[in-house]
Amino acid sequence: MKTILLIGATGFVGTAVVSELSRRLASADLRMPTRRRERCKHLSVIPNVRLLDADVHDPATLAQAMHGCDAVISMVGILQGDEPQAGEPYGRAFARAHAELPAKIAAAARAQGVRRVVHVSSLGAAVDAPSCYLRSKAAGEAALQAADLDLTIVKPSVIFGRGDSFLTLFAGMAALVPFFPLAGAEVRFQPVWVNDVANVVADCLERSESVGQVYELGGPTVYTLGELVRYATRVAGHPRPVIGLPDVLAQWQARAMELLPKPPMTRDNLRSMQIPSVCAEGVTLPFGRVATPLEAVAPSYLA
Ligand SMILES: NC(=O)c1ccc[n+]([C@@H]2O[C@H](COP(=O)([O-])OP(=O)(O)OC[C@H]3O[C@@H](n4cnc5c(N)ncnc54)[C@H](OP(=O)(O)O)[C@@H]3O)[C@@H](O)[C@H]2O)c1
Repeated sequence: MKTILLIGATGFVGTAVVSELSRRLASADLRMPTRRRERCKHLSVIPNVRLLDADVHDPATLAQAMHGCDAVISMVGILQGDEPQAGEPYGRAFARAHAELPAKIAAAARAQGVRRVVHVSSLGAAVDAPSCYLRSKAAGEAALQAADLDLTIVKPSVIFGRGDSFLTLFAGMAALVPFFPLAGAEVRFQPVWVNDVANVVADCLERSESVGQVYELGGPTVYTLGELVRYATRVAGHPRPVIGLPDVLAQWQARAMELLPKPPMTRDNLRSMQIPSVCAEGVTLPFGRVATPLEAVAPSYLA
């Protein structure tokens, strides 16, 4: 692999992936299109990263970025978007980022003769999933699977690590509130470390047996959301009780939060939590990798 295009790699997971690839492939050209170069200063220090000002939604720009590449890693994702209009399967933002963009990536890869694609989706993504997030993620997977590509899909549960927007959010809020009124307190998650995810993505490029595979990624332990919140607040030095909210109140809480510029929770997030984010029995990571426990990492950045 000499030239790799990383799409959606300027965020939390992408930063770990590109760091790992840079370490493994010191002479590779790691191309990273971004909409906001000024927010990518942390990436410009990685030696073989090349940031491109590019709108990946534009097919011509995408084709140009992909020209001469040996592989594409597709990681674009949004957790929140507008609610769907009547008759739509998901809102416009989810459609654009999760369904239409993977279809454009598939088309550009076919046209440019780039066969190898690794796509980051989400555990629970399914056409009949309860949320727009999960349904649109499934549409993106399907668009790539329909193309004749050497494709690997990874589907992580919630991801933790320095810079996450999950445990860090709860740890940060702990100092401000006396207790947590929490929607979905009993929902189960299997948090996986961002570096484990990055290693698996990098492994996929090295392992031909990963072509055509779909890997669920999870950590070694399953927790309820309530347990995770209690843990995060305790490690942050502000232990707080969690009070589970009944569904009706959770809906009202989410509606109210949607009015904030950066809502910590939306109604669609609540729908995603109708199903557990847990791997099939016994599955954590592929290639014989041993998943890193939350407790071995989280104190280093939550405290
Ligand atoms: N974090 C988790 O717990 C978790 C769990 C399961 C699956 N995942 C999946 O992992 C992938 C990476 O997630 P993350 O946590 O790293 O997210 P993130 O930090 O928010 O990064 C998202 C990336 O997608 C790009 N992006 C977002 N919307 C876009 C759009 N409309 N058009 C083009 N680019 C867009 C962002 O680019 P800009 O820099 O230009 O904004 C950024 O590079 C996503 O596919 C997500 O669904 C994450």
